[in-house]
Amino acid sequence: VDHAGIDLDPSDEGFLADPHRVFDRLRHRPGPVRDPRGWSVLTYEGCHQAFLDTALVPGIHPSPEQLGHREPWCTRDRTLAGSEGDVHTRLRGAVAPWFTPGRITALRERTRGLVRERLTDHDPGLPLPLMAQLADLVPARLFCWAAGAPESDAGMLAAWSRTLLAVFTAGPEMVERVRVAKEELAAYTTDLLAHKKTHPGDDLASELAAAAAAGAIDEQDAYFLLEEMLSASVDNTANTTGLALHTLAEHPRAWAALHAAPSLVPTAVEECGRFQPAIRHTIRYAVADTVVDGTSVEQGSLVTLRIAAAHRDPAVYDAPHVFDEMRAQPRPQLAFGAGRHFCPGAALARMEVQEMVAGLTSAWRVAEIADGARLNIAAAGLVHELPLRPAA
Ligand code: HEM
Repeated sequence: VDHAGIDLDPSDEGFLADPHRVFDRLRHRPGPVRDPRGWSVLTYEGCHQAFLDTALVPGIHPSPEQLGHREPWCTRDRTLAGSEGDVHTRLRGAVAPWFTPGRITALRERTRGLVRERLTDHDPGLPLPLMAQLADLVPARLFCWAAGAPESDAGMLAAWSRTLLAVFTAGPEMVERVRVAKEELAAYTTDLLAHKKTHPGDDLASELAAAAAAGAIDEQDAYFLLEEMLSASVDNTANTTGLALHTLAEHPRAWAALHAAPSLVPTAVEECGRFQPAIRHTIRYAVADTVVDGTSVEQGSLVTLRIAAAHRDPAVYDAPHVFDEMRAQPRPQLAFGAGRHFCPGAALARMEVQEMVAGLTSAWRVAEIADGARLNIAAAGLVHELPLRPAA
């Protein structure tokens, strides 16, 4: 234990240099550990149970109250992440049915075509800027297809998504930028929903417009849900793809195995998500006294579920620090959460990541990372730039 009883300081240089060494050292003790916000849960079982615990609700830090602003952060009872109980069930019911296996299959075909087009477009004499050429673009285009927005708006929507996602990591300096992005997006989404009311299609915006017209949700809900879908989908999928291809490029034997046997891609993508999840942690707020990983936690506490640590828990995973593209996952991985807030876009996201990984691993026998890669894995699971090229 270092200063002031803090066991885990995520801003500490030692932690940022090698978070798993710190997790491994702390996981030997029973129960969650102290962090500067409250508690951190490092075990698989502890995280999994906390996801299921109704005394723990999704929280953000700093909270709207701490930032001194109720808007633009206050989406309580409007979004899936911001609601519980009956409200959550009702809002989820308006969204989740859209993500049927049939729709995902149809989108898979379109995605495969888009991936092929983006890879053919690239000059093979130059390193492939993975994020700009593929991983940022495909999820934005997919969002347009799924939501029913014009494809030409993909770039603009992706930029809003990035700003809105900063809600989870930003300090007060982001308040104004987020407010402007929210205002612009509000106008855009309101127009889109109004258009879908009169020109419905097979898309999520039409589904939400119809649910609002039928009185299942109100118009404000439709707007907030669409906004949540946008901020939850684009960047997370891009980072997950970047991290997967980064991991594979660092494990040339695994890359070569996928090149030889593309049917391994779904198994390998699961292992990539275990080994290096894009969402490294998610925060819970205790609305009542509860027990977390065997320890009493008081109402009002902030509890951080460290998914990246849970995914290397030796109680669940053999040789947890070994990347094994053929690993059969012994328990469902937590990269998409668990329980009532489990990611409704998980099947869509998995499909996108699989298609991008398959596109590149089948094109190249093995890859290497070229100069200019910029990643921030330890703190945030972010991939800013990842130039790749085929290796000799
Ligand atoms: C690889 C990409 C993605 C990852 C890693 C991811 C991860 C997650 C995680 C971990 C949660 C649970 C958060 C928590 O309980 O604290 C979540 C929730 C959510 N995700 Fe995803 N997600 C991805 C893609 C998507 C996509 C494509 C969509 C929509 C089309 C989406 C929509 C949502 C929504 C709306 C929630 C909130 C659900 C609720 O609170 O009931 N996500 N996601």
